[in-house]
Amino acid sequence: MDSASLLNPYEGPHLRLRNRIAMAPMTRGRADDVTGVPHPLTKDYYAQRSGAGLIVTEGIWPNLEGKAGPGIPGLVTDAQVEGWREVTSAVHAAGGTIFAQLWHVGRMTHPLTLPDGRRPVAPSPVRIESEPIFTREGLVDHVIPRALTTAEAEATIADLAAEARNAMRAGFDGVELHGANGYLVQQFLGSNTNRRTDRFGEPTRFAIEAVEAVTAAVGAAKVGLRISPDNPENEIVEDDPQTTYRTLLRALDPLGLAYLHVIERGRYPALADLRPRWSGTLIGNYNGDEPTTREAGEEVVASGLADLFSFGRLFIANPDLPARFAGGVPLSTHDPALVYGGGAEGYVDYPSLEPAV
Ligand SMILES: Cc1cc2nc3c(=O)[nH]c(=O)nc-3n(C[C@H](O)[C@H](O)[C@H](O)COP(=O)(O)O)c2cc1C
Repeated sequence: MDSASLLNPYEGPHLRLRNRIAMAPMTRGRADDVTGVPHPLTKDYYAQRSGAGLIVTEGIWPNLEGKAGPGIPGLVTDAQVEGWREVTSAVHAAGGTIFAQLWHVGRMTHPLTLPDGRRPVAPSPVRIESEPIFTREGLVDHVIPRALTTAEAEATIADLAAEARNAMRAGFDGVELHGANGYLVQQFLGSNTNRRTDRFGEPTRFAIEAVEAVTAAVGAAKVGLRISPDNPENEIVEDDPQTTYRTLLRALDPLGLAYLHVIERGRYPALADLRPRWSGTLIGNYNGDEPTTREAGEEVVASGLADLFSFGRLFIANPDLPARFAGGVPLSTHDPALVYGGGAEGYVDYPSLEPAV
C-alpha cells in the first residue's frame, strides 16, 4: 500500500486538486431559517477546511419543498446567492476547490418545516414508518407525502438545473447532485418508494433526466453525482441494486461528468462493481457507525477502487485534516451535541495545528 497516496495531487479529466482528500457534504443546520441564507461564519468554516483537495458543501435546497429541516440553506434567491458567493470567495482565496451539493429531500421533511402549508412531495405516497423526523418542534411522526405529478417531477428537475446555474453565479467550481441516502433522487431509485406508472416509474429515469438537465445548464465538467447503492437509510429498499446502478452508469458515463461519488454502505460491493463501469473520476466514501479512518481511505485509493476519498466526521473537529495526515498528528474528536444548529461553538472553533488560513 502506498501510504502517501491520499496526499498526492490529483489530475483528472476535469479536476486538478492539491490532494485526493475530499471533504464529504455535511449538513450543519446554521443557515437563517427564514431567509435560507448561509450563516455569516459559513465562509470561515469552509475556508478553514480548504486544505482538502475538494470540498463538497452541505446539502442546499433547490425549492421550498426540498428543504429538510431547520437551518438548511437554499440557493434560489439573490440573497442566498450572495451569501454563497462570500463562501466561495473565502475558499478560493485560501486556494481551495468547492462544489455545491444540490439536495431535494422528497419525503424526508415535514409540514412544520415547509412554509405556506406545503406538504412533503415524493415519487409515491409512501410514508416513513420506522423513525420520527426532526422539526422546529422537535421529533414528530412523518406525514404521508404527496406524489409529484409528471409535470411537477419535470419542474423539480428544472429547479435543480436552476440551482446549478445559481451555483455558478455564486462562484462555485461545480455542483454535486445528491442522489444518495434516501432523499428524492434515491426515492425514485428505490423499489418500495417508487410505484409510479408514468415514465419516472423506471427507477433510473429521474436521476438520468436530472443529471442531463444540470449538465445542460452548467456543463458536464462541472457536475458530480453522489449515490449510495443499497443504502437502507431512510427506509429505502432496492430490490436489485446491481442492475439499477449498472443501468444508471451506462447512461451517465458517456456524459463525461466531473465525478461520481459513491457511498458504500449496503451489502452490494458498490465500489468494486462500479469502478470498472465508470471511466471518469470516482470518489469513494464509507458511511459506517464510526467516522471512517485514514487507513480505510488510503486502502481504497491505493487499490484503485477510487481516485479520491471523502471524509466527513473527521473534518468537523480537524479543519486541517490533510495537514494532520501529512504530519502524522493525532486527530481531535468532535462534540456530537454541537453538530447541528447554533453558531460558532462546535463550528469554527476547532483549532488548526497549522497557522490559520
Ligand atoms: C453531520 C452530518 C451531516 C451530513 N450531511 C450530509 C449532507 O448534507 N449530504 C450528504 O450527501 N451526506 C451527508 N452526510 C453524510 C457524509 O457525507 C458521509 O457520507 C458520512 O459522514 C460518512 O463519512 P465519514 O465516515 O467520513 O463521516 C452527513 C454526515 C454527517 C455526520
